[in-house]
Amino acid sequence: MGNSSKMEAGTFRHEHWSSRLGFILAATGSAVGLGNIWKFPYVTGENGGGAFVLVYLACIALVGLPIMMAEVLIGRRGQRSPIHSMRLVAGQEGAWSGWQIVGWFGVVAGFIILSFYSVIAGWSLAYIFEAASGAFVAADAKTIGAIFGGLLDSPGRLLFWHTVFISMTVFVVAGGVRAGLERAVSILMPTFFLLMLALVGYAAIATDTFGQGVAFLFSPDFSKLSGETVLVAMGQAFFSLSLGMGVMLAYGSYLPQSVSIGRSVFAICVADTSVALIAGLAIFPLVFTYGLEPGAGPGLVFQTLPLALGHLGGGVFFGTLFFVLLVVAGWTSSISILEPTVQWVEERFGIRRVTTAVLAGVAAWLLGLLTVFSFNLWSEFKIWDKTLFELLDYLTSNIMLPLGGLLFALFAGWIMAKSSTRQELGADCRGKDSRSFILWRFLVRYVSPVGIGLVMLHSLGLITLTG
Ligand code: PHE
Repeated sequence: MGNSSKMEAGTFRHEHWSSRLGFILAATGSAVGLGNIWKFPYVTGENGGGAFVLVYLACIALVGLPIMMAEVLIGRRGQRSPIHSMRLVAGQEGAWSGWQIVGWFGVVAGFIILSFYSVIAGWSLAYIFEAASGAFVAADAKTIGAIFGGLLDSPGRLLFWHTVFISMTVFVVAGGVRAGLERAVSILMPTFFLLMLALVGYAAIATDTFGQGVAFLFSPDFSKLSGETVLVAMGQAFFSLSLGMGVMLAYGSYLPQSVSIGRSVFAICVADTSVALIAGLAIFPLVFTYGLEPGAGPGLVFQTLPLALGHLGGGVFFGTLFFVLLVVAGWTSSISILEPTVQWVEERFGIRRVTTAVLAGVAAWLLGLLTVFSFNLWSEFKIWDKTLFELLDYLTSNIMLPLGGLLFALFAGWIMAKSSTRQELGADCRGKDSRSFILWRFLVRYVSPVGIGLVMLHSLGLITLTG
């Protein structure tokens, strides 16, 4: 992408993606990541399967999709970082400039997310070498479990890989290899998709629990649903789609006027959701074959897929490839998490991207120590019954991102004039609102805010919904 935006002597020069595909690739790169492969299966497992998945899909369609459109359109209108775009667009609409606070909120959420994201991506880095060394070949569930446990028990190893991953992220955000990475992603992502499909194929052919896995994912047992699980499903939708903290706003600011926001966002949501479901289809049959616990927690993927990979012909090759691709998927997400902050500092202070990226990376690295130690030295230390990692994840995914999303929805639905959003979405059909525009506006004004509001109030114990 055109990777810099600068304030120069009062004139604003801002580059754009070279094409619609450039935007879709970058935004899909942001959305598809550990959230799909690592987090979706384990939170689904922890929350009982089918009913959770159904709520998750509803959240994607009714809340995630309209809010992603809102973020992208605010960004394209503002042409700046989330903080500046919010202030500018608020000004244009004659609204309070304090709306920029949503952008600030996103910067804070981004730091917290990056801090633990990098530690988990570090697990994937470590697993590249485990896979390459042949450690998974013909291994049984106990051996694989011990490999995973050994990694978590070692603060030194976790720290090392966390450091490597943050450095990779900073390196790209600083401006180094973004163009190259994007070109690479356009090849690697489809490869990843095919490899995941192959793993689903393996699960379907080589296990006799494929049906059980499918049933777990898709046949809903509503007795497993509580206010809390609905909140987690909604939080997962925000996390997986990279919503609520300004990433899509930042990426939207690089989007050329001619590109259709609705169609691009639809493609991104479909891609992200398919990858999550495919990951679930690959993993749950294995969980049942090997008698593992669906609710085993964050280690689920790292304890199941190596089993399958270890029994596959060419397992060393495919296993190594899988974790390399997982790291790349995480990498394109982590750079997007830093983007809003770096973009803002560059606009505001004219400081070079390199400096900001390094400083921000150091800050996230330090915060990441909490996550590193929460898996070993401090694993007994709990607040509200959660380890520090669980707390940071809960706070961001389930509280901060939905709140940020709520504010973006209110801003696009109620603060911005109808004519402004209609213009951005190109939804004028011969002098009349197009049908999709009417639907979008209904979702973003009523359905998303009311939905988020009810779920949050309920989970804070302020109201009780039946069920
Ligand atoms: N969507 C990314 C994933 O699924 C994570 C992410 C969250 C990225 C928030 C940016 C912002 O892995």
